[in-house]
Amino acid sequence: MFLEVKNLNVGYGDVQVLWDLNLKIDEGRIVSLVGSNGAGKTTLLRTLSGLLNPYNGKIIFNGKDITNLSTKEIVNMGIVHVPEGRRLFSDMNVEENLLMGAFRRQDSDEIKKDMEKIYELFPILKERKKQKAGSLSGGEQQMLALARGLMGKPKVLLIDEMSLGLAPVVVDLLVDIVKEINAQGTTIFMVEQDVRLALDNSHYGYVLATGRIVMEGASKDLIQNKDIKEAFLGI
Ligand SMILES: Nc1ncnc2c1ncn2[C@@H]1O[C@H](COP(=O)(O)OP(=O)(O)OP(=O)(O)O)[C@@H](O)[C@H]1O
Ligand SMILES: [Mg+2]
Repeated sequence: MFLEVKNLNVGYGDVQVLWDLNLKIDEGRIVSLVGSNGAGKTTLLRTLSGLLNPYNGKIIFNGKDITNLSTKEIVNMGIVHVPEGRRLFSDMNVEENLLMGAFRRQDSDEIKKDMEKIYELFPILKERKKQKAGSLSGGEQQMLALARGLMGKPKVLLIDEMSLGLAPVVVDLLVDIVKEINAQGTTIFMVEQDVRLALDNSHYGYVLATGRIVMEGASKDLIQNKDIKEAFLGI
């Protein structure tokens, strides 16, 4: 067992958004969470990364209860969030943004090595390393957001709406990179409105509808499911 959510209830003030959520993200996998606008996907990621405290329920990581730890403690344990909308420092250049992803780390030699590895994964970022993040294309910005997340040395990468607003060829490239990151040992929790994309590229999936998990299973089975086809795939 790796990252597990048990009976989680979350909301903003009195407005409850997530209801009795249970899910497991097994080590080494790509797990997806799909659901429409406003289903509560981002709310879950914000809770997992300690930005939001749940009403009740538990978040367990490698056997340890991390439910009410601070974001800093959670990042230090290896859970890194790549937020919706990328949230880059647009006036800083590529390299400076990458260093921001490593700012909690003390191991400066390792940071240099990791940056070189990341440039191998994203050659375009190496070419653009002195360019301001705000001047990059949408796809390059998403690459930088992922790369900055990797600089935090994640065991689990939580990725929110990576594909949003990007052309299909760019999305394909990003998906290949995510698979490579996974192959190199990082567990991935991929949150997507694009149900086909998420299920085509994950091992296991959860479907969230108005704050509740309504279905889960191997992604290859979910994509064949009649209800999912009708509700999300327009078939
Ligand atoms: N800061 C906030 N204060 C109050 N309500 C919020 C806040 N953030 C989100 N919500 C509400 O919580 C619900 C779930 O929002 P959330 O952003 O988690 O959904 P989502 O599944 O990520 O949607 P999308 O696909 O559009 O990104 C929505 O009804 C939203 O209006
Ligand atoms: Mg969202």
